[in-house]
Amino acid sequence: VIDAGVNALHQGWTHYGPSAGLPELRQAIAKEVSASRGVEVSPDEVVVVPGGKPIIFFTVLALAEQGDEVIYPNPGFPIYESMIHYVGAKPVPIRLREDRDFRFDVDEFASLINDRTRLIILNSPHNPTGGVLSKQDIRDIAEVIGDRNLMVLSDEIYSRLIFDGEHYSIMSVAGFQERTILLDGFSKTYAMTGWRMGYGVMRTDLAAHITRLMTNSNSCTASFTQMAGIEALRGDQGSVENMKHEFQKRRDAFVAGLNKLKGFSCRMPKGAFYAFPNIRQTGWTSKKLADALLEDAGVACLSGTAFGDFGEGYLRWRWARKQLEKSREYWISTVRPDGSPHTMIVWGLWINNQFLFSTGKHSVKARNLAGNNRCTLGSDDAGAAVIVEGTAEPLADASIRKQFFPRYEKKYKFDMSGMQEEPIFAVRPLVAFGLREKDFSKSATRWKF
Ligand SMILES: Cc1ncc(COP(=O)(O)O)c(C=O)c1O
Repeated sequence: VIDAGVNALHQGWTHYGPSAGLPELRQAIAKEVSASRGVEVSPDEVVVVPGGKPIIFFTVLALAEQGDEVIYPNPGFPIYESMIHYVGAKPVPIRLREDRDFRFDVDEFASLINDRTRLIILNSPHNPTGGVLSKQDIRDIAEVIGDRNLMVLSDEIYSRLIFDGEHYSIMSVAGFQERTILLDGFSKTYAMTGWRMGYGVMRTDLAAHITRLMTNSNSCTASFTQMAGIEALRGDQGSVENMKHEFQKRRDAFVAGLNKLKGFSCRMPKGAFYAFPNIRQTGWTSKKLADALLEDAGVACLSGTAFGDFGEGYLRWRWARKQLEKSREYWISTVRPDGSPHTMIVWGLWINNQFLFSTGKHSVKARNLAGNNRCTLGSDDAGAAVIVEGTAEPLADASIRKQFFPRYEKKYKFDMSGMQEEPIFAVRPLVAFGLREKDFSKSATRWKF
């Protein structure tokens, strides 16, 4: 491939070419896609672009706008979500489920489609989980879409990197070729990431629009790299198989190693070259762990949240803080001198990462706290609960005390003038727990302070 690129340079393939790509390459791609996807593809349905990414960019730009909704996998390749935002459309994430080997639930998918859905993005094999949609999944997805007037962007850039099972494209489903924009390229299959060469396969009327976007942006993909691309497609494919076997060996060793680490569990990825371990049992958030692995152990990895909100099995502290801020009543438990618990309802404010509440100095809780400052605090919505364990001390900071009264009066519409002499307690969290009823088995989260 490199020789083909070098020869092409010497032969003068150094000038502009057609925006949609060199005819010979488009022909080679059409032949390859026709054979691998079992459909009839003609060269004028192929647009060659500099990498797989421009197909995402151009497709979202061409098909979605403000008021439209685009369904995309989450966790997922971050470009999907950022492009959907960029055109002003609404990103609608479909959650990839670890317990389904990172495939999604088709019923859940069906519930996300509505009249505003314009585009659905599929990615199999999948970055970053290595999940692969089965033939049955693809058929079920196609059935759910039915004859709705919407398009599918099928990102199949890892189609040749499957270790278990076979690649199946939605383009192969009867009636879907016209509604699919297939993305594939040379970056992954031929390890040609730096050459910048990918392609889209789509209806000719759409191909004309995507080609126009190419004309207006890149003019064309570099000519000599396209000549190398022809060689990649037509030449011996042995290196692709060798690379896949090497990746498979690494996958097996890496995943086995991850599963030996305390607190880690990792599903076996079926394709691509990623592992997406579950680290919930470590008690760390993914960002913190990724930073510590890099800084303390010199191991580079990306946090799950780099791929979307569903990349974190946990709830975010931001979510918990919001629950604590918006709660109206709070459950507070203190400890009596004989060790028995005492629970009461209080009003209060979550300010500066602490809970402030006012109480009479002779109240049971004030007396309990004077002897033992440990307490627990719970928010009022038990279906989206946050429980804080911490210590409560009379508030000493005069500036915070000053903030407290007006904010409290505003929240509760309650005249605090009679309470000016009473103590305000500040509960400082040591540990907090968050739990959401609707996904309690996945969302249960602990934060340490
Ligand atoms: C899912 C997915 N789609 C598209 C691309 C883009 O590929 P390219 O480097 O050819 O632009 C990547 C690259 O990481 C990817 O993971």
